[in-house]
Amino acid sequence: MKALVLAGGTGTRLRPITHTAAKQLVPVANKPVLFYGIESIVAAGITEIGVVVGGTADEIRAALGDGSAFGARVTYLPQEAPLGLAHAVLVARDWLADDDFVMYLGDNFVVGGITDVVEEFRRERPDAGILLTKVADPSVFGVAELGPDGSVVRLEEKPPAPRSDLALVGVYLFTPAVHEAVAACVPSARGELEITDAVQWLVDSGHEVRATTITGYWKDTGNADDMLEVNRIVLESVEPGVEGQVDEASEIVGRVRIGPGARIVRSRIVGPTVIGAGTVVTDSHIGAFTSIADGCRISGSEVEFSIVLQGSRIEDAGRVEGSLIGRSVHVSGAVRAPRAHRFVLGDHSRIRIAF
Ligand code: G1P
Repeated sequence: MKALVLAGGTGTRLRPITHTAAKQLVPVANKPVLFYGIESIVAAGITEIGVVVGGTADEIRAALGDGSAFGARVTYLPQEAPLGLAHAVLVARDWLADDDFVMYLGDNFVVGGITDVVEEFRRERPDAGILLTKVADPSVFGVAELGPDGSVVRLEEKPPAPRSDLALVGVYLFTPAVHEAVAACVPSARGELEITDAVQWLVDSGHEVRATTITGYWKDTGNADDMLEVNRIVLESVEPGVEGQVDEASEIVGRVRIGPGARIVRSRIVGPTVIGAGTVVTDSHIGAFTSIADGCRISGSEVEFSIVLQGSRIEDAGRVEGSLIGRSVHVSGAVRAPRAHRFVLGDHSRIRIAF
């Protein structure tokens, strides 16, 4: 069995972070979201991984390399334009050959991994398998309607009036039967070849499509709130440990990981929280539920329930919460008259000012 990982999307909902970084590489607990997916594929016993890449191909290649760091062998499959998930299967046709495969969307996060569903698929080998989960707003996903016996009756992509609250999770299990199905796809309203339509084609043509409803948490990490939520969940099980220096005047509370070369000075760090390598925290309060990446400087500030990416500085900023801060960002406070906010904000930035 192989795995086809889709890492071509541009991540418009995560702007401005994704102006400069692939959305699959946005870190959760200081590790790119994509790495969790690759790790769960390898944990399920699959080591032949095809990664479909688009405009951010160089970055994805730099992050995954040949896959050996994950115990896998990665082959890159360029998709010339984002023409849909079913199109990605067409692109991968030769590489997939006639093997069964799991298709994994690189911005999805399945808590607890996919080992159980892969094992069941291998054992029972229906023509295809889909994963479903209950969501609050199904209209932004593919939505499944099941019959009384749990069989898949109908799938719709982002329906304005969803027939159920069961969203398609971005993990699909396929036998080679899917190739005929994707070949039959025509562009949807958004101009893409939808994998949802391909699975519907399998249902309509009498193939067995097995639906598994998962309870393990998952999110399409398509927006900042989802990112913070996934970060919170992952931090809960982070391996604690202090590799950097913590001075006498500082306090570490709960599940906290501090990377090598980091320094904590006159500060309080409340877990679950991770502090990256080389980051310096001075006269500050960090946590809970916060990931500070490598090479950051935090001083005279409080940061809670937030993600701060590499090389950013937060100085005398008061209290920062529920925030996703990109790379090499500088947030600083100033006591001055007149009281005014001064910004240099990138395209698509969003800020909320408290008075
Ligand atoms: C895609 C699928 C959708 C599925 C979702 C899961 O949506 O088309 O059916 O529910 O992934 O992440 P997209 O991310 O392309 O909007």
